[in-house]
Amino acid sequence: MSDAIKQFFIKNEPYYRQVADEVTLYEAAYSVRMPMMLKGPTGCGKTRFVEYMAWKLKKPLITVACNEDMTASDLVGRFLLDAEGTRWQDGPLTTAARFGAICYLDEVVEARQDTTVVIHPLTDNRRILPLEKKGELVHAHADFQLVISYNPGYQSLMKDLKQSTKQRFGALDFNYPQADIETEIVMHETGIKADVAGKLVAIAERARNLKGHGLDEGISTRMLIYAGSLIAKGVDVHAACHMALVRPITDDPDMRDALDAAVTTFF
Ligand SMILES: Nc1ncnc2c1ncn2[C@@H]1O[C@H](COP(=O)(O)OP(=O)(O)OP(=O)(O)O)[C@@H](O)[C@H]1O
Ligand SMILES: [Mg+2]
Repeated sequence: MSDAIKQFFIKNEPYYRQVADEVTLYEAAYSVRMPMMLKGPTGCGKTRFVEYMAWKLKKPLITVACNEDMTASDLVGRFLLDAEGTRWQDGPLTTAARFGAICYLDEVVEARQDTTVVIHPLTDNRRILPLEKKGELVHAHADFQLVISYNPGYQSLMKDLKQSTKQRFGALDFNYPQADIETEIVMHETGIKADVAGKLVAIAERARNLKGHGLDEGISTRMLIYAGSLIAKGVDVHAACHMALVRPITDDPDMRDALDAAVTTFF
């Protein structure tokens, strides 16, 4: 096996707590190589889920963080100049298609539409990737699958995926897990006790109700894990919550007071 791909195998089982039937559904989608879209707010487990699925399916995982400066060449590849002259270098999407990896395009809406369209011929029954500059047509390896993540609600009308892109994917909805499962996740990731983890989750639930009423987004599972990790290190709970849960998400003094009040209600 090529060294280019070996490094992308996930060696140890990532901790992933199943929330509903997403594992079985994803396995079914993979079995027919359906491109998948993982939808959900920041910090709710999408990346962890893909890592877990890649491990479970024993496939390499190539992740690309998308941004608006990204060009098609960043995905597909480009000619590089070196001492011997010009040399083609595959981009991450091409490597994944050639060697049969799962390619995870994180935050794909951030990419410009002229970049996004390069995935089109790979995500319909053609499963091909034309490398126009190189004059090569890559036929995707049988194991190749494309996965994208998508935060619904963050995009403006100008910045959304085209229907012709969206309709090439099956989708799974992700959200913050229900309280008992989220408590279990926070305990597992931080080592704090059930009562403390449960209180962090309860604070997050309060904050999540403020979404759209002064908060753009609720407190994510990721933030709870930050708070829990600080508490596990012996940081005072109020200081930990203020630093990990309150200050990052809002600068509004009234909103901060409201969140601090939620913290003191539970601790
Ligand atoms: N179901 C779950 N099982 C195990 N860990 C979870 C689960 N959900 C969330 N987590 C924890 O929450 C953290 C944040 O999740 P993750 O990084 O997957 O978020 P994300 O949805 O990819 O966010 P973003 O959109 O910002 O990339 C993970 O590092 C993990 O510790
Ligand atoms: Mg992620």
